[in-house]
Amino acid sequence: MCGIVAYTGSRSAVPILLDGLTALEYRGYDSAGLVTSTRMYKEVGNVAALRACLDADTSLRKKGKEKKEQDTAGIAHTRWATHGEPTKVNAHPHAGRDERVWLVHNGIIENYLELKQSLEAAGHSFRSDTDSEVLAHLIESHYTKKRAEKHTLAQAVTEALAQVRGTYGIAVFDRKQPSEIVVARMGSPLLIGVGAGEYVIASDASAVIRHTRDIVYLNDGEYAIVSPSNLAIYSLSHEKKTHTIDHIDWALEDVQKQGYEHFMLKEIMEGPEVLRASARGRIKASSGDVVLGGLAEHADALRGLSRLVIVACGTAYYAGCVGKRLIEELAGIPVEVEVASEFRHRRLLYDRNTAVLAVTQSGETADTLWSIREAKKQGLLTLGVVNTVGSTIARETDAGVYNHAGPEIGVASTKAFLSQIEVLAMIAVYLGRMRGLSEREGKALVAELLQMPDLVAEILTHKDAIKEVATHYADATNMLYIGRHMNAPVALEGALKLKEISYLHAEGYPAGEMKHGPIAMIEPSFPTLAIAPRDSVYDKMVSAIEEIRARKGPVIAVVTRGDTELAGRVDAIMEVPETHELLSPLLTVVPLQLFAYYVGVARGYNVDRPRNLAKSVTVE
Ligand code: M6R
Repeated sequence: MCGIVAYTGSRSAVPILLDGLTALEYRGYDSAGLVTSTRMYKEVGNVAALRACLDADTSLRKKGKEKKEQDTAGIAHTRWATHGEPTKVNAHPHAGRDERVWLVHNGIIENYLELKQSLEAAGHSFRSDTDSEVLAHLIESHYTKKRAEKHTLAQAVTEALAQVRGTYGIAVFDRKQPSEIVVARMGSPLLIGVGAGEYVIASDASAVIRHTRDIVYLNDGEYAIVSPSNLAIYSLSHEKKTHTIDHIDWALEDVQKQGYEHFMLKEIMEGPEVLRASARGRIKASSGDVVLGGLAEHADALRGLSRLVIVACGTAYYAGCVGKRLIEELAGIPVEVEVASEFRHRRLLYDRNTAVLAVTQSGETADTLWSIREAKKQGLLTLGVVNTVGSTIARETDAGVYNHAGPEIGVASTKAFLSQIEVLAMIAVYLGRMRGLSEREGKALVAELLQMPDLVAEILTHKDAIKEVATHYADATNMLYIGRHMNAPVALEGALKLKEISYLHAEGYPAGEMKHGPIAMIEPSFPTLAIAPRDSVYDKMVSAIEEIRARKGPVIAVVTRGDTELAGRVDAIMEVPETHELLSPLLTVVPLQLFAYYVGVARGYNVDRPRNLAKSVTVE
């Protein structure tokens, strides 16, 4: 979704802003822009287009023998359209009437029409269709109205924000006093990278990492006044806040492709290392235990849990569905899994021994965040399985477990899904060992978890065979994915992955549902991808596959290596090694991720930036 970068310091701002915008490209956007005290550019399309337009202008300036531009502060933005089409005029930054106050904004101003009308009545006219421009005018109107009283920009910002309903992360500056940038946050992430005599502000750490790993996270309801020599943070009611500096534990290489054609492929190939990182220091093989420091403080409450509710969106939701099966099997706790956008709007009828667990890669997904806030209002214990350290959900939940999967750049979530399942499996063993799971069972499970990186690596060595299958089916127009028990959610995830990056219509179903409707679609041009490892529901999967074959539907099957029975009956196979049945999703999903990737590539799409999608969905 939208991205913000701002800089104040002693270096030339434009290259820093442009590099920051490039680092935010993975989030998904449709236009970009920036402003410094002397320059303002906006472009529809990608950051390269904005850069080209700046380069052209710079060479013109040089021809005209103008002095070399040395703006040392500025604000910049990538926009993912919500209010108004992706056009140059709707792109950020936006200015107030006098073009003195400039702003970039992430989020949605819900009462913008109301505010716009009253500003229009006061003589303002608007250039764009955006809610963000209204906020720029509102701030400027407070600023200029009171200039005689030496009203500061920060005062004007907070007065304007007091009139606003909605969500925002904003960076604002006065083009005549550019070195001071005012930023504020309500429901849309912002962080401030602390350098030597400079600050790089962004909505996402990947835009800051090349300059500093020292980060101050702004909380909801806070604003900051940032100048090269000072950072001061206040609540919106002007209470001074002390801030702590967190240190990011990943590096610039983690957000670079490192020779891979796409981030998505790189991140699938990182699977083994991600599994190692998520388990590191957490597994006690000798006693079959799992140590989760982030949950330790709440061990008593967890021992007495009567119910766990997992809330998440998209891929994280499917990981939650796998987690439900693991936790119910191993810990005997009833688990509900709910799409966060539904959970947050219904009446919550839970007792005090219920905990709500958010599963989220970004830690910023708006619906998941608001679900946690609803649960908190009900006095329920809130937990998180979160990948992004320091993210809002990580900070707002009572306790949790970090994935340590490293930054995920590809919009299609792959390595995070693996890591989410692994962490949920560890939570299941952790809760299970508190509640009667035997040492023998615990040992068997953790031993298998420790094997998992090697098993995933083995699947990845066969990626060319999967590519061949994918290329063969890349021209299909529809596909069905089926699986059962542990692999029912994997079927749904496989179908989601395929539609996201190849725009090929795919549906996922629990295999037992075939006869209740989907089988009507089967015909020779409608392939089914069946997940059928050797497990307790294998025979039932074989029956479902036979029913599809009887109707001349092509079948690709994910099977346990060496399964000659199914291999002879289907059109193509993708093999996975044998493992504990409860952990099989960690393996079966890998060929599905590769299959989706290669279909997307064969169809000629940019799999890292699927159309209409954003990496982190920070608006409802
Ligand atoms: O950051 P989150 O894990 O909370 O994101 C949830 C979903 O938006 C995300 O998994 C989405 O479905 C991905 N594009 C899937 O590949």
